[in-house]
Amino acid sequence: MAALRAEVSKVSKKMGRVQALRRVNAVFGAGEVHGIIGPNGAGKTTLIRLLAGLLHSDTGRVSYGEAADPFSAAQAKRVTGYFPQEPSLYPDLTCEEHLEFFRDLYGLAQEEFVRRSEELLQATGMAPFKDRPAGKLSGGMYKKLGLMCVLLNRPKLLLLDEPTVGVDPVSRQELWDLVYGFAGENMTVILSTSYMDEAGRCARVHVLSGGEMLASGAPQEVMAQFGVADFAEIFLNHDRK
Ligand SMILES: Nc1ncnc2c1ncn2[C@@H]1O[C@H](COP(=O)(O)OP(=O)(O)OP(=O)(O)O)[C@@H](O)[C@H]1O
Ligand SMILES: [Mg+2]
Repeated sequence: MAALRAEVSKVSKKMGRVQALRRVNAVFGAGEVHGIIGPNGAGKTTLIRLLAGLLHSDTGRVSYGEAADPFSAAQAKRVTGYFPQEPSLYPDLTCEEHLEFFRDLYGLAQEEFVRRSEELLQATGMAPFKDRPAGKLSGGMYKKLGLMCVLLNRPKLLLLDEPTVGVDPVSRQELWDLVYGFAGENMTVILSTSYMDEAGRCARVHVLSGGEMLASGAPQEVMAQFGVADFAEIFLNHDRK
């Protein structure tokens, strides 16, 4: 099965008393690496959780698949991997035990599990640490373990909420390389970041501020649209309005 496309149309969502999203439109093309960028409170987590099927929009629509091959929300959920902003792994379980735990959760056959977990341990460079408990991993390794757990099931749509927070620059680069290694024919990736310098790493960026989608497009296109040389300027200008 191929990478899954997703689209939100005129999506609004209130969280408590806050209007977290305001008539947001965005298309997340299949196989691409999409970045939802915006400052704290912009609505990134709300949008990602809506795409993950964990929240429902008040108005508007979230849809999946191509027009010729639409997916229901339930079908999409089965092939979506979601990595929360604050992943909670089990501190006492080792990396390998985590992978086994997720194997059982996903109901993976042992043969497929062995193949996939070997592949992920190699790709992430985590093989030497597979016997280390999660509670003893560095920040970057902890994120990699969380990523392996969601990738085990070969999702067609991968949603990562701020995967690079609290990760040193080398591990951040490794995480980006991993994301690009997995995105493509078989996987669409949508990640959020509040680090403006990471916007340029995305194939397509979706700029969110105060619950509004300000722009979507290739990073260069979006910067040209705002007449800025740096993403941070978009938010500075927007907040001043
Ligand atoms: N359960 C909730 N109850 C009340 N307000 C909420 C709730 N969840 C989110 N909000 C508010 O909705 C807005 C959007 O929140 P959201 O978590 O989506 O932002 P974000 O872009 O992910 O921010 P951050 O970068 O801090 O993670 C914020 O103003 C937040 O305070
Ligand atoms: Mg968030």
